[in-house]
This record gives sequence, structure tokens and C-alpha cells, in this order.
Amino acid sequence: MRKKLTIIGAGNVGATAAHWAASRGLADVLLLDVVEGVPQGKALDLSQSGPVDGFSVAVTGSNDFADSANSDVVIITAGLARKPGMSRDDLLAKNVAIVKSCAEQAAKHSPNAVLIVVTNPIDAMVYTAFKVSGFPKERVIGMAGVLDSARYRTFLAQALNVAPRDVNALVMGIHGDNMLPLVRLANVAGVPVTDLLSADELAAIVKRTQHGGAEIVNHLKTGSAFYTPGLAAVEMAEAVLTDSKRVLPCAAYVEGEFGFSGCFLGVPVVIGDKGIERILEFSLTGDEKSAMAESEAAVRKQMAATGL
Ligand code: LAC
Repeated sequence: MRKKLTIIGAGNVGATAAHWAASRGLADVLLLDVVEGVPQGKALDLSQSGPVDGFSVAVTGSNDFADSANSDVVIITAGLARKPGMSRDDLLAKNVAIVKSCAEQAAKHSPNAVLIVVTNPIDAMVYTAFKVSGFPKERVIGMAGVLDSARYRTFLAQALNVAPRDVNALVMGIHGDNMLPLVRLANVAGVPVTDLLSADELAAIVKRTQHGGAEIVNHLKTGSAFYTPGLAAVEMAEAVLTDSKRVLPCAAYVEGEFGFSGCFLGVPVVIGDKGIERILEFSLTGDEKSAMAESEAAVRKQMAATGL
């Protein structure tokens, strides 16, 4: 039987995630939104690309959570997006109520699903979904590391004029200005970038990565990025749906790993059909540890603001 993927929120990120998922033929896709007609219309349009793109999965739209029953993966994208001048934190109060109700409904209709949370501020929203769903920590995962690492890899590839997929690089910590793009471990097909780029060039790339989301918001003015956020969520969903054991940087609930406990932080994880199989812990340098501690402090502030 085909797997089932529900995407909550038929806005730019949700619809784009549906597009990537259908195009990859990952699972039957249900696009769910409170706005009447939007998920139905977008899903119908997307389903009609099947004959041309070559996929056979069903793509449907609905306003009724009951239609999401027994999903294998539920991606939560519902919520307001950033406008220029707004930080991800400004969204918190509004989006916490939205994510609460989405996570409640998702848990009720798909008690065995893996939840992937995309709504910003991600690190607080994934905590909200974790608390409200009552799911074990393995089955609640926040998107962001895949997106932030993709930006970091893109900028490194451009600076080096190499194929982006040959750049391996990891961004850890919060999905915010305190995120930690690891320079020491970044490499091009095994060759350290520290041997290929100057410290100044690398510092500029790190800074651009940390503000990668705002750079796009400033261009768009009416919203935030969606192609790569949508794809990042689908990359994570694919790892669950195919039990591939991909190693992806994700917001995971830490309990002692890297010296942090009781919050969600971006760390490298192994993903299989039950969700997070394990966190790949490794030694951080003093500076990296301090940067992670700054991320943790920022995440805890957001967590407190959720009131959960
Ligand atoms: C970004 C939004 C999704 O980083 O936070 O583009």
C-alpha cells in the first residue's frame, strides 16, 4: 500500500512541499488548509501534472482533518510568514495557537505518524507540537538544519565554483541568527574548505547563511522563502517514508547530547521509518560549544514564550 503524507497549510511552503513530494512519487499527498477551496484547487492543479511529470501518487486537497487519518508523516507548515523587519520571534504568539491546534488534530487522526514542523519560529513550534501531541521525542522533528545547511552549501559552492552537491557542510543550533554553520567540518568531496577559502571569505559566508532567511524576506517583501524550505521538509519526510537512515541536520529533542537537555536544537540525526533513530554526537570545540550555548539560550527564551 502507498504511504500517506499530509501537509498542513496550503500556502507557499505547504504547496511547494506537496509539489516536491508528488514529483518524487513519495506518497499519496493530502494538502490540508482552513481556507475553503485553496487546498482543493492547488491539489487538483498539482495532480494534473502527473501525466507530464510521470508520478502516479494521488494529490488531494481538503479542509477536514478527518481526511488526514492514518498518515505516515504529517508536515506542519500552517502559520503566518515573516514580513520585512519581523523576526521569527515576532510570529511566535500567533503561530503557537495555530500549531497547537494542528498538532492536536494530527495526533488524534494519525496517532502513529511522524510530525515534521516547519512553522516559524521552528524551534519553539516543534516544542509546541511535541508537548501538545504527546508523541515520543523520536516522532517530532523540526525542519531547519537541512534548509540552513543547503544555503551554506550553496554559498560555499558559489565561492568555489564547484557543484553544490559536492559540498558537505553542517549547520547546527537554532534556526535564527545564532545558528552555527560549522566551518571546521565543511568540505568539498572530503577537501576541507579551510584549505580552499580565506578566513574572511568563510566568515562572510557564515554570516550570509545566518541571515539567509532575512535576505529572501527582504527581496520578497510579502513573505519568506518557500522552495528550499518545502524541499527540506520533503527530504526529511522521504527519509521516514523510505526508512533510508539518511543523516540530516534537524531540530531534535536533546537529552544530554552535546551537553544540552530538555529542548529542541539543530543536531545531526539518523532518520528512519520511526523518525529519529539517533543523534550523531561528536566533540565540539570550545567556540562551537559557546555558540551552541547561545543557540540554546535563544531557544529557551522562545520556549518560555509559548507558555507550555
Ligand atoms: C527561512 C524561513 C523559513 O529561513 O525561516 O527562510
